[in-house]
Amino acid sequence: MKAPFQLYGIFGYPLGHTLSPAMQEAAFEAAGIKAYYLVLEFDSPHFHKLMARASDKLLLDGFNITVPYKRVIQKYIRRISPEAKIIGAVNTVYRSDGQWAGTNTDVYGFLTSLVKDGKFNPKKKTALILGSGGSARAVVYGLAKSGARQIRIAARRPSRARKIVSDFKKVFRKTEFNVFSLNRNDLKKGLTNADLVVNTTSVGLRPGDKSLIPVSMIPSAGRAKRILFFDLVYHWPQGTAFLKNARRKGQPALGGLGMLLHQGAKAFERWTGKPAPVSVMKKVLEESLKKRKAK
Ligand SMILES: NC(=O)c1ccc[n+]([C@@H]2O[C@H](COP(=O)([O-])OP(=O)(O)OC[C@H]3O[C@@H](n4cnc5c(N)ncnc54)[C@H](OP(=O)(O)O)[C@@H]3O)[C@@H](O)[C@H]2O)c1
Repeated sequence: MKAPFQLYGIFGYPLGHTLSPAMQEAAFEAAGIKAYYLVLEFDSPHFHKLMARASDKLLLDGFNITVPYKRVIQKYIRRISPEAKIIGAVNTVYRSDGQWAGTNTDVYGFLTSLVKDGKFNPKKKTALILGSGGSARAVVYGLAKSGARQIRIAARRPSRARKIVSDFKKVFRKTEFNVFSLNRNDLKKGLTNADLVVNTTSVGLRPGDKSLIPVSMIPSAGRAKRILFFDLVYHWPQGTAFLKNARRKGQPALGGLGMLLHQGAKAFERWTGKPAPVSVMKKVLEESLKKRKAK
C-alpha cells in the first residue's frame, strides 16, 4: 500500500539551529507534495545504533546529514556518488533501487551561491580557506573543479589540511595547493593577493565569537584589490564578526544562507524529481532568520 505522505528528515547533533525543516516543508507544499521533514537529533551512540541496526528499514524517503555525521554515514550506505566519495562527506541520502544512496549537495550549494550571490567566478583565482573539516573539503573540491589557480588552506590542525591536499592534488593537477597555520604571519601570507577568503570553521556559530582574521589584517577595498569574504555560517541576520570586519574595510561579504538554500534545493530535486521552488525556499529562510533576531 502506498503511504499517504512522504517522510524526510535531517540527522545531526545538536540540531537546535537548523532552518532546513521550514525550508523543505515550504518547498513540498509549494510543489503540491504531501510530505513531512523531521528533526532527527540523535547523539552519537544512538545514531550509530539506529544506523547499524535499521538503516535499511528506516521509514524515510530520504534524509539530510549534518555535523557531525557527514563522514561516518558513509559506512551505512551502499552507493556513494563519485564526487561525495572524493570529498569524503555525504549530506543527502536518497533511495535508489531499494537501497540508500548518498551524494553531496554542499558543493553545488557553495558554487551556486558564490556565482549568483557573490558574482564571483573562481576560474584562475586565488582562495584562502579557513578550516579543514567536512565543509572545507566540499569548498576546496568545488573551487578546484571550477579551475581555481591557487588554494591555500589555513587550519588549526594543519595535518588535516595536508590530507585534503594529498587527496585532491591527484585529481586537480592544474591547481596549486598550500597549507598554512592560523597564526598571524601565516594568515598574512595567505591573504596576499587572495581574491576570495572562505570561513569553513564553526567559529562564528556562538554569539560573541571573534573572527579568525582580525580587522587590522584586511586591506581596505579602496586602496588594495577587492577580496570577497564568504562565511559558511548563516546563523545571524546581521552576519558574523568575520563578515562585519570585511564590511568595515569596504570588502564584499557573503553569509552562508545562499549556500544552505541551494544545497537544499538540490536535495529536494534529488528526492522528488521535480524542480525546486527556489524563491519560496529563499523567502522562508530569510523570514526564519529575521524571526531569530526578534527573539
Ligand atoms: N551554509 C551552509 O549551507 C553550510 C553547509 C555546511 C556547513 N556549514 C557550516 O560550516 C561550519 C563547519 O561545518 P563542518 O561540517 O565543516 O564542521 P566540521 O567538519 O566539524 O569542521 C569544523 C572545522 O572548524 C575548525 N574549528 C572549530 N573551532 C575552531 C577554532 N576555535 N579555531 C580554529 N578552527 C576551528 C575545526 O578545526 P579542528 O579540525 O582543529 O577541530 C574544523 O576544521 C559550521 O558552522 C556549519 O554550520 C554551513
